[in-house]
Amino acid sequence: MDDFDRDHPAPSPAAAPAAASGLDARPGSGGALRRESRAVHPPVVDVAGSRPLGVPLHQGHLFAFEDSASLVDAFGGPDGAFLYNRHGNPTVRSLENAVAGLEGGAGALATASGMAAINTVLLALLRSGDHVIAQESLYGGTFAMLADLADRWGVQVTRVRGDDPAEVRAALRPNTRLLHLETVSNPTTRVTDLPALLAVAREAGVVGVVDNTFASPLLCRPIEHGADIVVHSATKYLGGHGDVLAGIAVFADAELHRTVWHHAVELGAAADPYAAWLTLRGLQTLPLRMRRHCDSALDLAHRLDSHPAVSAVHYPGLPKGTRTTNSPAGCCPRARAGCSPSTWPAGGRRPAPSPSRSGSRRSRPPSAACRR
Ligand SMILES: Cc1ncc(COP(=O)(O)O)c(C=O)c1O
Repeated sequence: MDDFDRDHPAPSPAAAPAAASGLDARPGSGGALRRESRAVHPPVVDVAGSRPLGVPLHQGHLFAFEDSASLVDAFGGPDGAFLYNRHGNPTVRSLENAVAGLEGGAGALATASGMAAINTVLLALLRSGDHVIAQESLYGGTFAMLADLADRWGVQVTRVRGDDPAEVRAALRPNTRLLHLETVSNPTTRVTDLPALLAVAREAGVVGVVDNTFASPLLCRPIEHGADIVVHSATKYLGGHGDVLAGIAVFADAELHRTVWHHAVELGAAADPYAAWLTLRGLQTLPLRMRRHCDSALDLAHRLDSHPAVSAVHYPGLPKGTRTTNSPAGCCPRARAGCSPSTWPAGGRRPAPSPSRSGSRRSRPPSAACRR
């Protein structure tokens, strides 16, 4: 027996009859447990009767069960009981429910980064030999992932401009599984004709995935335009404070949500609860910030446009901006007002041309103004 044990003896059965019977042995129940055990299992405060107004941060990664039915429920799907943070966590689920609500989806999966959301969706839905149609002007990380899937996993990738449904229709193959678009593309801020392109995907039974990072659900809700899945780098506008790396995938359909959730659990893609909590804090100011982002971006675009050292400004809100759609009424017109403008200095090098359809591994140089 060392000094600590001598100073902190276990309660005797006589002193703690309830503990001896096992009735009072729950964590946090006080005197029945040795001090060492009480240090490991501090009492969890039950807030029944009142309700925190802010979402609490549940950082602990394990949950205890009242019964085995809850344990089974936790393995069953994205809405089940809580078991282990890789499957689900109350803080993370609060973020998922909040963003699903904003996007008009049936459910969501919060992930460790925007790339984790994109990769989880791609890896969950694609298998070797499948064909993907993807927009030419696309975030470099997504392009690199598609190129990798093509190189190493035998996924075929065709690139399209994003403004012509006939081009998408022509690219369809019997094995086409997924159409990947961005509402406002990174870095050249092209506004994609979502309704027209997603209608082609729907008709062909192809899953339509839209990266809505640059628009946010405040400016565009792709599910209303026919998307099956919306992905975000929450690191950007959703988080909004430059202090969190997170992503989220929102699903129009509960079954698709469940399918991808199973793969997310296997991949270990889950968002950290603190990151989810920070993103929830950021969401509270999203409407205010988006208004300001749009005002500032337009002002910046005009200033850059008239600056002699700048040869090109890529901003869809400018009269000669990078608007590519032919159906202004249905293309999330408000999205044209969002996003930072991207620029090239006069005499400077423009980004490399879009990668070839066969999918080379080169990714574009980052734009100066579009945050990565
Ligand atoms: C449009 C878009 N999608 C996805 C990502 C990847 O997000 P993350 O950096 O959170 O992994 C980015 C990052 O800049 C992005 O701009």
